[in-house]
Amino acid sequence: MNRDMLLQTEIIRNRYNRTAIFYDWMDKMISDAARKKAISQATGKVLEVGVGTGKNLSYYPQGGEVTGIDFSPGMLAKAQGKLHLAKVPVTLVEMDAQHMTFPDDTFDTVVATCVFCSVPDPVQGLIEVRRVCKPNGKIILLEHVRSENRLLGWIMDVLNPVSLHLVGSNINRRTVENVRAAGIDIRHVEDITSKIVKLILGKP
Ligand SMILES: C[S@@+](CC[C@H](N)C(=O)[O-])C[C@H]1O[C@@H](n2cnc3c(N)ncnc32)[C@H](O)[C@@H]1O
Repeated sequence: MNRDMLLQTEIIRNRYNRTAIFYDWMDKMISDAARKKAISQATGKVLEVGVGTGKNLSYYPQGGEVTGIDFSPGMLAKAQGKLHLAKVPVTLVEMDAQHMTFPDDTFDTVVATCVFCSVPDPVQGLIEVRRVCKPNGKIILLEHVRSENRLLGWIMDVLNPVSLHLVGSNINRRTVENVRAAGIDIRHVEDITSKIVKLILGKP
């Protein structure tokens, strides 16, 4: 990773450490129904990238096992407090999604919700998602993206520095394009909320 990206990563990690305390109260971007819909499709050995405060943990169906990674110790500490809600065994690990330490082809399912808006180098993170997912595995992403509406897209571009500065999240990422750029084979894209929150299903 070059120096600039290392610095960006450190800045965003610190922002999430700062917001961890009130994240659950503040975050209303993704509905519980959308989380359930995405997470209920995760099977087998599952990796959740950017597990955050563990908002998805209670939705994993029985029978699997989950490894949740995040680069923010503050967010992971909050997730630790939700482990008792999970119906599956969960292991939490502090790790950068841009450089995972798992071998290739480790997981049956890789999940991320509302993460690639924040990862400093999203395409690098998605290349890692593809690498650690088994060849016949599933990639499940629930992400907010830049609006295709010209005016709304422009407003998102203008407001992006504010969001990035306050909480560490970009509101104008073109995540479907980033997923494609990472070489993930997109099988399904579904608009969940106003063409801004999308469920993206893919294969490595
Ligand atoms: C907007 S929060 C979403 C948290 C959770 N997935 C959810 O749906 O509530 C983004 C999360 O991604 C994590 N994150 C961002 N960049 C990361 C990276 N490079 N490696 C690991 N975690 C990262 C942040 O620490 C934060 O917990």
